[in-house]
Amino acid sequence: MKTLVTGGAGFIGSHIVDRLIAEGHDVKILDSLENRVHPKGKPSYIPKEAEFIGGDVCNKDDLKKALKDVNVVFHQSAYQDYMPNYSKFIHTNAVSTALIYEIINEDALPVEKVIVASSQAVYGEGQYQCKEQGLIQPPTRSQTQLEKGDWELHCPICDEYMDPLRLSEEYANPYNQYALSKYNQELIATRLGRLLNIPTVALRYSITQGPRQSLYNQYSGICRIFSLRLLNGKPPIIYEDGKQQRDYVHISDVVDANMLVLRSDEANFQVFNVGSGVPVTVLEYAQLLTKKLDKEIEPLVLSEYRLGDNRHSVSDISKLKKLGWFPKKGLEDIFDDYIAWVKELGDLGEYFEEADKMMRKMNVIRRARDGK
Ligand SMILES: NC(=O)c1ccc[n+]([C@@H]2O[C@H](COP(=O)([O-])OP(=O)(O)OC[C@H]3O[C@@H](n4cnc5c(N)ncnc54)[C@H](O)[C@@H]3O)[C@@H](O)[C@H]2O)c1
Repeated sequence: MKTLVTGGAGFIGSHIVDRLIAEGHDVKILDSLENRVHPKGKPSYIPKEAEFIGGDVCNKDDLKKALKDVNVVFHQSAYQDYMPNYSKFIHTNAVSTALIYEIINEDALPVEKVIVASSQAVYGEGQYQCKEQGLIQPPTRSQTQLEKGDWELHCPICDEYMDPLRLSEEYANPYNQYALSKYNQELIATRLGRLLNIPTVALRYSITQGPRQSLYNQYSGICRIFSLRLLNGKPPIIYEDGKQQRDYVHISDVVDANMLVLRSDEANFQVFNVGSGVPVTVLEYAQLLTKKLDKEIEPLVLSEYRLGDNRHSVSDISKLKKLGWFPKKGLEDIFDDYIAWVKELGDLGEYFEEADKMMRKMNVIRRARDGK
């Protein structure tokens, strides 16, 4: 099978590339080696068996070249960040997706499947149960609420506190620029796919972790940020009160999910969560990681918050499980594999300072007046 992995030099894409090669497929990579992700240039882990095309997914000529003779596309490239250049999110993540279908259609290419990387971010503030009102998809918490250090979600109708629900695929409620671009991307892919009868699947990844995760990407970096601080003898900084829940999925489970939907006709034109389904609070995460690194450092809870963060995000993974996928690795494996990799990289001081400085400069990190 001839495959194309856009963003194949990045974290998730490169692991998909490795799996495809191990399974005997031909692989092309289209990647622009974005400076923010690859400040040191082309990564050495890109296998020589893969054909590397340095180019931009938004450039029609580059994409045409990459798509030539391909049967399967894994669209993994993305702009993911907290930066306020909104149009770049839509351009890189959504417009590139439309361009893939445009080229397949124009050139009558023999593409049999397209799998796009979406994100748990499309759920925005998520899904909640209000005792009075039932299911609620609330808007993001207001800055006034966050400034008061009032972290939990209130019902927008009766103002009562609400209980978080596992995120179910049938809903989406994107709020920030990244989430909006990802939701657009999956709608474009699944709907143009159906229109042109090109089997297409969108996978909403939860926070994915493992070796090769960019040290600069601000978006999903909890393991990186906490481990870099701990390895430098500094306490992890916890935003809000640390009781916000997340779910973390190991990179090999994400690759398994891609391989499963590749082979499943049942998956076509659908959207699936790919997560662990296990809620872990940020505080628990910090404590477990501190123990794993053999450190005796207490995390710092400063009542700071990050603008655009949501409170709880834990995916319901039952839909993909019905197709036979299940997560095989847990948090222990995530820590073991990530730490082993980070230690190979040598001095990491500069990476943390850089990331922290950037977020403070952009006024993304703020402090509550009355944290509780
Ligand atoms: N990592 C996560 O936790 C996570 C969670 C949810 C969804 N996702 C999605 O999974 C996919 C892969 O994420 P990742 O963590 O591997 O990201 P990454 O930043 O490590 O890799 C993305 C790759 O895309 C390339 N790229 C960016 N813009 C490009 C462009 N215009 N043209 C060509 N290449 C370009 C980058 O150079 C990079 O190699 C993305 O679509 C992302 O939105 C990731």
